[in-house]
Amino acid sequence: MREAITIKNLSYTYSEDTRALESVNMTVHEGERIAIVGPNGAGKTTLLLHLNGILHGTDGQVEVFGKSVDKVKREEIIKDIGLVFQDPDDQLFMPTIFDDLAFGPINLGLKEDEVRERVEKALLTLGLSGYENRCPHHLSYGEKKKASLAAVMSMEPRILVLDEPTANLDPRSRAELIEIIKGLNEREGITIVTATHDVNAVPTLADRVYVLNKRIIAEGTSQKIFSDVELLKENNLEVPEVFKLFEVLQCFGYNCEELPLSVDDAIEHLTRTVETEGGHIHLHIHKHTHDQVRKLKDKYEHH
Ligand SMILES: Nc1ncnc2c1ncn2[C@@H]1O[C@H](COP(=O)(O)OP(=O)(O)O)[C@@H](O)[C@H]1O
Ligand SMILES: [Mg+2]
Repeated sequence: MREAITIKNLSYTYSEDTRALESVNMTVHEGERIAIVGPNGAGKTTLLLHLNGILHGTDGQVEVFGKSVDKVKREEIIKDIGLVFQDPDDQLFMPTIFDDLAFGPINLGLKEDEVRERVEKALLTLGLSGYENRCPHHLSYGEKKKASLAAVMSMEPRILVLDEPTANLDPRSRAELIEIIKGLNEREGITIVTATHDVNAVPTLADRVYVLNKRIIAEGTSQKIFSDVELLKENNLEVPEVFKLFEVLQCFGYNCEELPLSVDDAIEHLTRTVETEGGHIHLHIHKHTHDQVRKLKDKYEHH
């Protein structure tokens, strides 16, 4: 498949004592969903700001669909790649939602009716139809997050880059946003790159994960990355709760080769187990069970 983003040996230094990125290599294929996970200060935001040419590497290079971000005009890059900032107040700056969503398409030089069409489509996708005349600053945080994604979607990018999309959202807004992002990939084939430290969202949002801590520490499927508890601990990352629960169940004799990473995976797993074991799940407590559980809890202790 075509390479959507290629990052080669990218380094970035804010000042002598802040080396934010060190020789980062990354490849994202068209249609893929990638998560970049890492603790606070790992360089996630810094990396994303290189993807659409806001920052330029001290060393190395970034290509989007084979074009070097350093050599192409920013107006060209933002047609392909849309970046949703963590803070919606950085994205929304016009008096109305309509103006915010129309801003990009107007700058592309589109005609008035095309601009209007793009704005309506983006609002519909985000469930914000009817918000055209609302003032961004009077929206709830969840609505602002959706509006900032809509402002990016009105540019119809092939690649969507999101910085901590689930941070500070209440559970319903969080679930809605995750569904919307998933849908954009499934229905429109949009390539998704998400930077996050919300590990519980990763299995649903990504097919492949990069662990970033200035350098790329590891790369692989969610299953591979989250099975490596030492890796997660060393990089100050949580393990998804569902994963921990099924490891506990294993101590009680639950038979499970591949631990589920999301509630949906868990439902599938439990259903399969009940069906193959004659309508029951068999658990036990042996002499060693409590020791095993204690060891497991020690393993997950952070410090
Ligand atoms: N504008 C800036 N000026 C100086 N240092 C910065 C700036 N932005 C980020 N940093 C530093 O760069 C490092 C990486 O930050 P950042 O990319 O925001 O990490 P993350 O998004 O993973 O939390 C941190 O040490 C941070 O303090
Ligand atoms: Mg950040």
